[in-house]
Amino acid sequence: MQRLISGIKAEGKTVGLVPTMGYLHEGHLSLVKKSKEKSDITVVSIFVNPAQFAPNEDLLKYPKDIKRDKKLLQKAGVDYVFIPSTDEIYPEGFQTFVEVDKISKKFEGEFRPIHFKGVVTIVSILFNIVRPDYAFFGRKDAQQAAIVKRMVKDLKMNIEIVTCPIIRDMDGLAKSSRNIFLSPVERNDALVLSRSLKRAKMLIKEDRKNVMVILNKMKEEISSAGTSKLDYVKIVDEDNFEEAEKLLEGKKYYILAACRFGSTRLIDNILITL
Ligand code: PAJ
Repeated sequence: MQRLISGIKAEGKTVGLVPTMGYLHEGHLSLVKKSKEKSDITVVSIFVNPAQFAPNEDLLKYPKDIKRDKKLLQKAGVDYVFIPSTDEIYPEGFQTFVEVDKISKKFEGEFRPIHFKGVVTIVSILFNIVRPDYAFFGRKDAQQAAIVKRMVKDLKMNIEIVTCPIIRDMDGLAKSSRNIFLSPVERNDALVLSRSLKRAKMLIKEDRKNVMVILNKMKEEISSAGTSKLDYVKIVDEDNFEEAEKLLEGKKYYILAACRFGSTRLIDNILITL
């Protein structure tokens, strides 16, 4: 991969990277489309990164279908698919990790303490191998995208991080590789996430800007779904992920929600511009 990239760079071409863990859906493919618009050469990586899963999480049952993924990527016109092995990425003796401090400890970081350290470490390794000009991340994982942006800024990496909108099923459920684990009842309950986010956005647009009131309404609504166990709802500054106490005109915020339905944990969010 490194040799190949050297050749591409020598020709003066720009490289776009879409990092994924595979089991691709339209969300991933929307990032591919954006990369193809912006870059001469698009590389998609598929690597289920053990470093970002805690021992009690779903690493072993993370869904996989490389054959199908390759077909989808070929159809989407991707130039290269990079599928390294775990031993290549983390050979014996590996001991270097990247950590983005404060922002990684909040929200998702509170529930998944080692998660973002694993994410930024693999993303750095992929950046070093592929040396992209652009890297594409979905706003589905808004905190992840913000953390990667912070790392790129802090470590002076010469890479533009491009964030792309959330792709949803027709009924509003954000596409996720984990949705296949939902039973029909859980899937139906999970619609409460996108519904309550949309409702909260509407309330804010109608000038109901009291953060506590909005969050309490959301908590109530999400908790009323039979199989739901809410982890958190928050309103944060779009840029630095600081929790918002007041909503100010001219600023952008994310409303974040994380909730388990049965044993499947889902996250969702909505971006609001005031
Ligand atoms: P994965 O969950 O496979 O997601 C890969 C990329 O697809 C991420 O940037 C994610 O935000 C984006 N994505 C997922 N669902 C989406 C949706 N419904 N709409 C838009 N974009 C969506 O995120 C990871 O993998 C890993 O943490 C990774 C960055 C690859 C590091 O291991």
